[in-house]
Amino acid sequence: MYSKKYFIGNWKMNGLKKDLVQLKKVDSFLIRNKFLRKSIISIFCLPNTLIDFYRTNLSKEIKIGSQNVSNVNVSFGANTGFVSFRMLKDLKCEYVLIGHSELRSVGDNDKSISNKIKNSKQSKLKIVLCVGDSLKDFKSGTAYKKVTNQILLALKNNKKLLNKIIIAYEPIWSIGSGIIPKTMYLKNFFDKLNIFLIKKFKKQIPIIYGGSVSSKNIKEFKNIKKCNGFLIGGASLKSKNYIDIIKNYYN
Ligand code: PGA
Repeated sequence: MYSKKYFIGNWKMNGLKKDLVQLKKVDSFLIRNKFLRKSIISIFCLPNTLIDFYRTNLSKEIKIGSQNVSNVNVSFGANTGFVSFRMLKDLKCEYVLIGHSELRSVGDNDKSISNKIKNSKQSKLKIVLCVGDSLKDFKSGTAYKKVTNQILLALKNNKKLLNKIIIAYEPIWSIGSGIIPKTMYLKNFFDKLNIFLIKKFKKQIPIIYGGSVSSKNIKEFKNIKKCNGFLIGGASLKSKNYIDIIKNYYN
């Protein structure tokens, strides 16, 4: 059902119009490679400032996402600085990150995250719901509890929207640190999470991994069968790094 793997770039607060050249290279790499076109879904979650320009200048091999969306349940209104699903749809944006730890750390919370997901009702956008444990959670053995709780709070009022959801498990202590959890630990974590999702929601929901994914460590994820792809921050900014991740995963 979702045998294709997701390779989702998260550019965070990076990128100007001139950096389109990076994604042009990814685009032609994908256009030349029939096997990969059948095997992966390539998505870049860009700053909103770039979405329209990049969408217009790239082929459909690359899907475009935003990194956040408004939590108020109107498409237009007196909400300075907010961007709604309707506005993202207007830009032909197909995905949106919700609940990234960098936004949770500045005020996003379980309630606002649940509301953001609820607001997607009227749109076709797919949601990448980011969840993750802190180093403290990890060290005290409560990572799994923390993550499953975040998932429950985000999805319990949104059961009708589960078809739109991809879960990105991102240990906060791994993001940008160059440190990734041990393969066996992750394999267990993904297996347990997968069973949890089936039990709770009677559904297979794709789960991807994020946190310091690079061309050097990507092979370690090959044996994690329940890992349906990757959310890639720093290494998605340069086409070569992103392409090498994909190449090393499949070689
Ligand atoms: P990173 O970021 O790959 O730079 O660690 C991942 C993320 O924050 O989504």
